[in-house]
Amino acid sequence: MIQTALLGFGTVGSGVAEVLSENRESIAHNAAEEIDLKYIFCRRDRPGSPFASKIIHDFETIENDPEIRIVTECMGGLEPAYEYTKRLLLAGKSVITANKELVATHGYELLQLAKENNLNYLLEGSVGGGIPIIRPITQCLAANELDEIFGILNGTTNYILTQMEENGTSFPDALKEAQRLGYAEADPTADVEGLDATRKICILADLCFGRHIDPNGVRTSGISNVSIEDVRYSEQMNCRSKLIARALRTGPSTVTAYVAPHLLSRSSMLSNVSGVMNGIIVRGNALGEAMFYGPGAGKFPTASAVVADMIDAVKHLKARKYLGWDAADPEHFTDSDDIVSRWFVRTASPLSEIGRAFGNIRFISYPDAPRDEYAFATAPMYAHAIKVMTRNLDIRSVYRIMD
Ligand SMILES: NC(=O)c1ccc[n+]([C@@H]2O[C@H](COP(=O)([O-])OP(=O)(O)OC[C@H]3O[C@@H](n4cnc5c(N)ncnc54)[C@H](OP(=O)(O)O)[C@@H]3O)[C@@H](O)[C@H]2O)c1
Repeated sequence: MIQTALLGFGTVGSGVAEVLSENRESIAHNAAEEIDLKYIFCRRDRPGSPFASKIIHDFETIENDPEIRIVTECMGGLEPAYEYTKRLLLAGKSVITANKELVATHGYELLQLAKENNLNYLLEGSVGGGIPIIRPITQCLAANELDEIFGILNGTTNYILTQMEENGTSFPDALKEAQRLGYAEADPTADVEGLDATRKICILADLCFGRHIDPNGVRTSGISNVSIEDVRYSEQMNCRSKLIARALRTGPSTVTAYVAPHLLSRSSMLSNVSGVMNGIIVRGNALGEAMFYGPGAGKFPTASAVVADMIDAVKHLKARKYLGWDAADPEHFTDSDDIVSRWFVRTASPLSEIGRAFGNIRFISYPDAPRDEYAFATAPMYAHAIKVMTRNLDIRSVYRIMD
């Protein structure tokens, strides 16, 4: 029997405890060992919980217990999760995590530490919730030279955009509804401003392209400025408004990444990913294109990924699994403004000024569109070019179009 411990007993942690208990027999079969949960570390007691007797409030008990071989971190945030993870790896325990902020920020260092100590640091739950994506990239697609990975990586923003499109709900009302249903946190900043998606695309890019990308260097814009009007124009263009996180090769040894709202063509497989669901497309030179789709968050979907990592860690207690990437290199990362796109532009400037900047263009409209504005799509051009061309216009929206 393998003894394990949990750090954190919130949404994900409680799901992990329940899945370990509910599926005890099949998990034992799959791991070829029984997995026992000995401690749950968190701040509050949980009287009445079937796991109440396992709850402890001192981390050192887990750190110093030689029986504990695997610890699952579901606390979230950088500290104290970062310090505890280092201490656990130094104490000879493999660590499983769902913490994308920690992996995106310190993943390289923690994976190195795991390697030096012949331990596993596994992170399937950190991206895509229940969608298998880390293992497919690192194992099933290992024969490929991967060129690009992109997708809808945040369920909260996708739910809000879907509500805006399907029900005509405004952004603030759709956000309130997402909070009421538990899809958005009380402080929704990390989701709506795109930070959560940036952390996830950085982890995917680290794995696909083999080198750490600092999330702080990734151009990130969220959906808080996407309006009902933008969504209506999207429909007229046979597109859907989606928050896309994207990482791609820009040269033989360079890559870029960014997160931004897009007008996504309805012919794209991703455009059908609605509500809280996530979708991720991977492009490889042998594979072509594959899409991964499913619940990108939630108690049990995330626990499904986390417990699978626990099983894998049990199977690899002696022979460490290879998982990792190289340290960051500023030469490796290029500016996403160098990626060419067609652009959607919505402006309150008069026709004469639009014509001066863009020449002869075709405008898009819809019944009841605001009378004081014009919307149009540009030819493909760099972000630098669109910035120059729109600098004298009264701009309401500028978004990339993805065909
Ligand atoms: N929620 C999801 O659907 C989801 C999906 C994928 C990944 N994740 C990631 O999984 C992680 C956990 O998310 P969650 O939604 O489960 O969070 P959560 O519901 O807020 O739970 C966090 C847990 O960690 C404990 N904790 C936090 N700081 C602590 C500290 N300093 N000392 C002791 N315990 C502490 C809390 O204890 P108390 O309750 O006692 O205060 C709570 O039990 C995050 O990194 C998140 O990004 C979440």
